Amino acid sequence: MRLRRCSVIHIEPREKLVLDLQILADGGTGLRDIVEWIALAPHLTAEVTLNADEVALLGKLSPTHWHEFEELAKTHSHATLVSLREKGLLVEEGSTHADRDQSLRDTHWRGIAATLHYVTRWRGIDTQKSEKEYAELVGGSLLDNLGAAPDPVKESATAAPRQSLTKPGSSPLEALLARRVTCRNYDRSKKLDFDDFSAVLYRAFGARAVDDYAPGVRLLKKGVPSAGGLHPTEAYLLVQHVAGVTTGLYHYHPIDHALELIRVLSDENADEIAMRFVAAQRYFADVHVMVLPTARFGRNFWKYRNHSKAYRALILDVGHLSQTLYLAATELGLGAFITAAINEVDIEQEFALDALEQGPLAAFGFGIRATQRKDVEFDPLNAVWPKD
Ligand SMILES: Cc1cc2nc3c(=O)[nH]c(=O)nc-3n(C[C@H](O)[C@H](O)[C@H](O)COP(=O)(O)O)c2cc1C
Repeated sequence: MRLRRCSVIHIEPREKLVLDLQILADGGTGLRDIVEWIALAPHLTAEVTLNADEVALLGKLSPTHWHEFEELAKTHSHATLVSLREKGLLVEEGSTHADRDQSLRDTHWRGIAATLHYVTRWRGIDTQKSEKEYAELVGGSLLDNLGAAPDPVKESATAAPRQSLTKPGSSPLEALLARRVTCRNYDRSKKLDFDDFSAVLYRAFGARAVDDYAPGVRLLKKGVPSAGGLHPTEAYLLVQHVAGVTTGLYHYHPIDHALELIRVLSDENADEIAMRFVAAQRYFADVHVMVLPTARFGRNFWKYRNHSKAYRALILDVGHLSQTLYLAATELGLGAFITAAINEVDIEQEFALDALEQGPLAAFGFGIRATQRKDVEFDPLNAVWPKD
């Protein structure tokens, strides 16, 4: 059996409260705080707790060279080697852990970014439930407990005289920006027009040109910028109420400007999946079209290998796509949203995505606005909703 250390691992000393019956018996709170070593490794599906011997040994084992177990056991503790192998931090050649670790190496992730991405993914989180539990625990909503927010603008301490700027006159872009309001009220009883559906997808995700930039390097020209011109973000869709489109999961093909059906869904199933994708934000699950912008890591990291800014660039790409989708929808009189509160693991599973190849970074949506406002929207300009 040959072993080596996994390629990426971050170790955090973390404090936690544990129940101590002796403290309780002595009339105390019954709680004691302890500090533990927690290992965060992107090729694992969960974090693991380490003892001091395991931490020390990890600092001595090569992540590059394979070694026979018996060789390692001559100079290192047999029991500690076994426990590190069982915890998946020392990977055995040919094992699933070793394969996943190799995928990370081949994708050229920057280690700290890989850890951030894989450790912060959610599965089955229900934000409404979490908010309720929080309110019960602390006696009030999060907002009640935060105190005053930092000022909306960083004011100059000396209040130096400011040079006033001109404001642009009215224009179609000006009007469009003024009407952009995150929509939390969709009318499920109306079907979204097929041409409107197609137009929003084209403007945010469609390729306007395909360019053979260099041998083996094909670039797409889109309406949005993208780091390195690589456009690594795929659009996976959950379509619920669009005329001429069967309810289901799809992938959007940006060159052909076409839908690829992944799976047909019943209305109930689609609703349940939509709720799971947006972590139980009911008002977003009602949307006609949900778009899951999903980064194909290998496409970006092909150029930006082990690059300290590459993961940030993937996230920034999604921000540009979001605003373009908002504006494309707004121009057609539709509502749109973005949320970062998503259950990434559920999304990966429903679309059968290999999480080591690609991962959703947000959820967008667009659809027909309801005529009645049930859920709150931020519209101080009364651009969409009349004054109460
Ligand atoms: C990165 C990002 C994440 C967001 N996540 C959520 C979310 O989880 N839930 C939600 O209701 N709105 C979310 N929003 C929408 C914001 O709440 C919204 O933009 C903000 O309230 C301002 O309203 P406006 O977009 O209408 O100007 C998000 C927006 C951004 C840019």
